[in-house]
Amino acid sequence: MKNLLITGGAGFIGSNYVRYVLQNHSDLHVTVFDKLTYAGNLDNLRDVAEQFQLRYKFVKGDICDAAAVEAALRDRSIDTIVNFAAESHVDRSLLTPDAFIKTDVNGTHVLLEAAKNFQIERYHQVSTDEVYGDVPVGSSKEIDPLAPRSPYSASKAGGDLLVQAYHVSFGVPTTITRGSNTYGPYQYPEKLLPLFMTNAIDDQWLPVYGDGLQVRDWLYVLDHCAGIDLVLQRGTPGEVYNLGGENEQHNIDVIRMLLKMMHKPESLLRRVTDRPGHDRRYSLDVSKLHTLGFEQSATFEQELAATVKWYTKNEWWWRKIKSGEYLEYYKAQYEKRLAESTAVQ
Ligand code: NAD
Ligand code: TYD
Repeated sequence: MKNLLITGGAGFIGSNYVRYVLQNHSDLHVTVFDKLTYAGNLDNLRDVAEQFQLRYKFVKGDICDAAAVEAALRDRSIDTIVNFAAESHVDRSLLTPDAFIKTDVNGTHVLLEAAKNFQIERYHQVSTDEVYGDVPVGSSKEIDPLAPRSPYSASKAGGDLLVQAYHVSFGVPTTITRGSNTYGPYQYPEKLLPLFMTNAIDDQWLPVYGDGLQVRDWLYVLDHCAGIDLVLQRGTPGEVYNLGGENEQHNIDVIRMLLKMMHKPESLLRRVTDRPGHDRRYSLDVSKLHTLGFEQSATFEQELAATVKWYTKNEWWWRKIKSGEYLEYYKAQYEKRLAESTAVQ
């Protein structure tokens, strides 16, 4: 593993991963291949471009474009692909599912074909715990059936199945990680935590879906990056690894913890109409990853506090985003719901 192609490397987890591998592996060269959708942002990699000029290159491109993918593999002598590129937000998948199927399914297929034809040493797919669907009791194991329920999770599951098929049918050396809800610096402020942090800084309402008793497992972004790196180093081709924070919480408890840390009043909370088909609970069994030596760096409270501090100090980063397309999306998603909302008891 010497020349990595990191697709979707200008997004949230991808950009943290680019920084992580360049800092931790001095012999590695990284090419980021990213379409720069609304979620892709070169500001996420500004420091990387300055600090690692000789080992980092950015290529603008779409993973659905086979010729562009092949050119990048050839020109940059790529031996490893790590695929973060995806449409990643459940709420948007309810508004525009076609974009999800294109990138998360067809795009994955294009990358796998290229990995096969170029005899890539490792293809790693960054996937999600959401492919297992709603988990009322117990925890999902890697061998459990996939039961996705949103256009986002169904598209990600389609990608995972293609990855498995390319390993079995064509011997492509693949690995998959299924990560849980991730948080940290550079997360686009449409997902729960960065949305609530940035709204709270501005004393704006915080839209809680339904009763707020849904359960998510929270994973710090650098732990997510370390988990992927571990699987690339020590994982077995053909295998899937759950990558969770072992930190399941009700949404409302996380939100209350956040408000307390930010010294903001609970009167900012508004109960809004629930997301259609909202998965009530995700839960991962991560024992398989522990056998490779996975450990997390700090507690949820410490990492959440560090993330609040980052958003407080980096208004230059998120204020630019919260304009234009973002405001249109926010209006479509929340205006009516907030107008009809009630106080959270
Ligand atoms: P993100 O939305 O912040 O970033 C996605 C990136 O992919 C952007 O830079 C975007 O420009 C790029 N992209 C989108 N379509 C593309 C295309 N057709 N070609 C090339 N680039 C394209 O997403 P994220 O939160 O960083 O998630 C990254 C990956 O991790 C995704 O595959 C997602 O499914 C998975 N994941 C995310 C979480 C989470 O909590 N955020 C949890 C588990 C797994
Ligand atoms: P999100 O960050 O969208 O991640 P996912 O849906 O992939 O788990 O949402 C996390 C949880 O927070 C989920 O249960 C939905 C809920 N949520 C809200 O209550 N309000 C919001 O405005 C958002 C974006 C999410």
